[in-house]
Amino acid sequence: MDSRQPKWLGNAIFYEIYPQSFMDSNDDGTGDFQGIIQKLDYISELGCNAIWLNPCFESPFNDAGYDVSDYKKTAERYGTNEDLKQLFDEVHARGMHIIFDLVPGHTSWEHKWFKESSESARNEYTDRYIWTDSIWEEPEGLNTLRGLSERDGSCVVNFFSHQPALNYGFYKPDPDKKWQQSTDDEGPRATLEALKDIMRFWLDMGCDGFRVDMAGSLVKNDEDGKGTIALWQKIRSFLDEEFPDAAMVSEWGEPDKSLKGGFHMDFLLHFGPSHYNDLFRCEEPFFSSRGKGDISEFVNKYKENYEKTERKGLICIPSGNHDMDRLRRFLNEDEIRIAFAFLLSMAGAPFIYYGDEIGMRYVEGLASVEGGYGRTGARSPMQWDSTKNAGFSRASTDKLYISQDSDPDRPTVLKAKSEENSILNEVKRLISVRQSHKALQSMGEIEFLYAEKNAYPLAYLRSEGEEKILVIINPSDKEASFKSEYDPITSIYNIGDKALKSGGKIIAAPCSAGFYLV
Ligand code: NOJ
Repeated sequence: MDSRQPKWLGNAIFYEIYPQSFMDSNDDGTGDFQGIIQKLDYISELGCNAIWLNPCFESPFNDAGYDVSDYKKTAERYGTNEDLKQLFDEVHARGMHIIFDLVPGHTSWEHKWFKESSESARNEYTDRYIWTDSIWEEPEGLNTLRGLSERDGSCVVNFFSHQPALNYGFYKPDPDKKWQQSTDDEGPRATLEALKDIMRFWLDMGCDGFRVDMAGSLVKNDEDGKGTIALWQKIRSFLDEEFPDAAMVSEWGEPDKSLKGGFHMDFLLHFGPSHYNDLFRCEEPFFSSRGKGDISEFVNKYKENYEKTERKGLICIPSGNHDMDRLRRFLNEDEIRIAFAFLLSMAGAPFIYYGDEIGMRYVEGLASVEGGYGRTGARSPMQWDSTKNAGFSRASTDKLYISQDSDPDRPTVLKAKSEENSILNEVKRLISVRQSHKALQSMGEIEFLYAEKNAYPLAYLRSEGEEKILVIINPSDKEASFKSEYDPITSIYNIGDKALKSGGKIIAAPCSAGFYLV
């Protein structure tokens, strides 16, 4: 493992907070920083020791805050920069860490930089975004904004149309298109300095690092990512010099590239070639007890990535996030418990999306809120207890940021705490086993022993030094076996019946997960 990894990542378990929906302290129906502070003990008792906070900066909220209009100022609805400083202090006082969401690829079209850049007269921000020289020219393969200002040109956008792309240059600018700048030109260099300035601002205040939005998208016409990797290497040198303990995790999905760029961790997600959806989010997920899923392609991709990363960083598999359907949309509570046995015994840092630990449901049929569209149902307010609005807010119910699950039997933290076999208690037990065995933690090695096409169980070996732990996971409701040299005798964790050894084979009980010292 790379010696420059911040030490705290070795046993970090992240909890993702979507600030709008976590806890409302001032009764306006939207979550806020003081609300998060009130619930830090809950996160810490769960066993999570790190937080990823979705964007909380000033924004017109056309994309839930991923459309920043001032990078250095928090959105009023969450509180002030001073509240945020208090949040950092409270997090640190509990021995935890917190990372922010950095959106380096685009701003909101309401950002001051963009307003200035849209002016026809040249100014400091003219080259902060990517503009063609004429409104009639649209760059190939890139989407643009056109006809909104006096400036003659089309402006490249990164995601939604209201998110103009910041200019970090083109990998190989076309000499016939003067508007395509190289990464070394003055405009792109100034953008990079502005990005460092934002990072420095929050790291100085006590932030512990960043989850980086669309990290692989910065340099344009950069098919194999070489330009973007080089750009992140510059950021890596800056961090090594000024903030060596700052953790960096990328939304990239290609760990071989992102780790080369100096990120410590990369996510495998619901897009790209990862086969992540085969696990929990498809017609026949591997973790369904129907036993009709397939994990082999996911494991093959994982192994490919694991080899390419040369153990230089972590590959992270989240339980979900604000962009995908809730786990509970495809799996029942028992299946989710087994899914967590997998998520919390894998290499890399685990990320738990708020509410997944109690099996919160995807709320069906909601109108889109703040650019959420189909994602809105996975962003509904946290369900704490049996009081009004499930304890999330004392505002009148129609004022809630997003409507909650209206089922009177909706899962809550309070109920989950009282039920021995709840997902919540399973997650707590799993975290505590993970934290008492180095082999199970982020940097322990992983070797897959059984992950065959359309077959069950899944088995892998986690190891660190002398410690070796055999993990056997059988979500299917039928017994499943595989040949193995190991004998699962000393169990340190079990859901369902323990595995047995017979005739050279390990037999995993239906709907079971077990960890064994071997
Ligand atoms: C990925 C974020 O996770 C998503 O929520 C956002 O809409 C896009 N990037 C654009 O920033």
